[in-house]
Amino acid sequence: MYLYSNYMKKNAFFEVQSDLTSAKIKIYEDYLEGYLPKLLMPFGRCIIIDLFCGSGKNGKHKGSPLVLLDKLKYILNSTPLKGNKEILIQILFNDQNTSNISKLEYELNNYKYDRDVIKITLKEETYEDYIDTLVKKLENNQSPKFIFLDPFTYSNVRMNDLINLMNLPKTEVLLFLPIFHSYRFASKEFKSEHKTRKFVEEFTIEGVNNYENIYDFTLSVKNRLKKDIGLKYVRPILIEGGGSKNSLFLLTKHRAGMLLMNKVATKNTIDGNSVKVKEQNLLSLFDESREEIESSFLSSYKKGLIEKLKLTPLTNKEIVDFTIEEGFLPKQAKKILSELYNNKKIVVIDKKGELINSKLQWNIAEKIKIHTSFKWSSY
Ligand SMILES: C[S@@+](CC[C@H](N)C(=O)[O-])C[C@H]1O[C@@H](n2cnc3c(N)ncnc32)[C@H](O)[C@@H]1O
Repeated sequence: MYLYSNYMKKNAFFEVQSDLTSAKIKIYEDYLEGYLPKLLMPFGRCIIIDLFCGSGKNGKHKGSPLVLLDKLKYILNSTPLKGNKEILIQILFNDQNTSNISKLEYELNNYKYDRDVIKITLKEETYEDYIDTLVKKLENNQSPKFIFLDPFTYSNVRMNDLINLMNLPKTEVLLFLPIFHSYRFASKEFKSEHKTRKFVEEFTIEGVNNYENIYDFTLSVKNRLKKDIGLKYVRPILIEGGGSKNSLFLLTKHRAGMLLMNKVATKNTIDGNSVKVKEQNLLSLFDESREEIESSFLSSYKKGLIEKLKLTPLTNKEIVDFTIEEGFLPKQAKKILSELYNNKKIVVIDKKGELINSKLQWNIAEKIKIHTSFKWSSY
């Protein structure tokens, strides 16, 4: 009975697209829109790999392969990339399910795109059997690579795979984890040897522990990914709704990639971190209580920034770098700093040590043009 209902759930996935899935795809789509031009302008080529690609369509909705092609078409049609025949985009779609790959093949055969510029390979491999071969194949490949890992369960993708993938030259990974399921098994009180606990031990800093809430648990996953892969930038986004919580994690070596995902998250979420999905409605963001929003990553970032400032003066560059690394935007840092400044908690000085009285001269921005410094004040 249990197996049958599991089977039904998996098959139902491709009949209708849940709002949680739509929200996930929307984040993927928005990230691609900003990210692909950044790759294609300077490099002229890239490799995109979707290792759990599905059939291309979930009911009437487009799944990740068709969303990618739509975005590529849009980007290739926009100047200055328009008509550039030098561009080469290699795509690999993989799924272990034969029927998914046949359906996707059918969709692609009927899809209009420039086959000289976009080269698609379809594979029908089990991820676990294929991942090492793929890593080996790409280890000397200098093209920029974007890898989407969107499995049904948390157990397919292992930490070691992520380490190997992120060791490849110029590679970013977008990883989906159905995090809530594992969170429920993360508590110390839960004695069972459920296999989820293996995931918790492998993917969190604190391991089996009494996490305060899902945000706390997600931060532990983020920090473990940073630590084990040796990465500066890991950007989680929670997707919450209908009693379930899932998450996407962007793994990147680049500040620009992180900044872009911070922007995508800010655009799609109420607190910059979690997409709240209503049952019937995609990305309905405005029905959550203030307390929940305050308990999110935003308040822990704010606390972190204030603690840092209390310890030592920070330059505008240090503040902006910390902000981006924590998953936020310079404008959000500026808002916090403005509040502190209005309450006379900080002073701002220029390179010569003179007080700056206009917020316009703080230069808390993506691009640092002048040096300013923020000091906790002892009024
Ligand atoms: C969540 S769905 C992917 C959805 C897809 N990204 C989309 O947007 O439509 C997960 C897919 O992974 C495939 N899959 C499950 N286990 C797999 C494995 N071990 N190796 C490869 N594919 C697998 C399933 O057939 C399913 O199509």
